[in-house]
Amino acid sequence: MDHFSQSLALGAPGAAEAGPKQNGDGRNEDEAQGLASLPPAVLDTVTSLALAIDAKDHYTQGHSLKVAAYAVLLCEELRMSDIETEEVRLGALLHDIGKVGIPENILNKNGPLNAEEWDTMKQHVTFGAKILEPLRAIARIRKIVSHHHEYFDGSGYPDGVKGSDIPIGSRIVSIADAYDTITSDRTYKKGRAPEEAMAELERCAGTQFDAELVHLFVARLRKLPNPLLEAAPVPIPATTRA
Ligand SMILES: [Fe+2]
Repeated sequence: MDHFSQSLALGAPGAAEAGPKQNGDGRNEDEAQGLASLPPAVLDTVTSLALAIDAKDHYTQGHSLKVAAYAVLLCEELRMSDIETEEVRLGALLHDIGKVGIPENILNKNGPLNAEEWDTMKQHVTFGAKILEPLRAIARIRKIVSHHHEYFDGSGYPDGVKGSDIPIGSRIVSIADAYDTITSDRTYKKGRAPEEAMAELERCAGTQFDAELVHLFVARLRKLPNPLLEAAPVPIPATTRA
């Protein structure tokens, strides 16, 4: 399997062009070139960190990978370009990266969080954005991570942005995240059936989630022989391959 950042660099628009570029929109060149300008080793490191979050608790193991797989289904339904899809996939993979900054007793609590613990837990989106801040080339992915808990009606966090002001990648990840969370076992609950999870997404369409995206997602899931995706194998970082 080709490493994602390598394959991306080959296909990214403008990746083959050499020499300095002007850009008049105030962004630096890394931001303008996006993912293609990021050394694969950097992306590998950040991805490993994201997967380490999953590994901390065997009940959430594979969660980020599954969220990424579900998010890609929606990107396909939206006919997003390869580069946009890759950005959303990485945003999904990294969405909870900020949980490295959350104390373990809160992260792995065997039961619902109290109000104070909940406030601490919510900080994972801000921590995630902070961790990704130095990587200017993935500014759009950082935005996906920052806003994956915003609600379509504006009642989410951290900024309470609403509707189409929420980055589309965040709206996609939010649906994929909820679907995997509802259908998976946790320390304190048993996973629910796919049909129940779809009904829950539909119930919250227009308030928590983008209704149009929920409609597309549910329609796509119903076409699958098995609407529960397995976590894909963890890619071997290019930098450790001989
Ligand atoms: Fe999250």
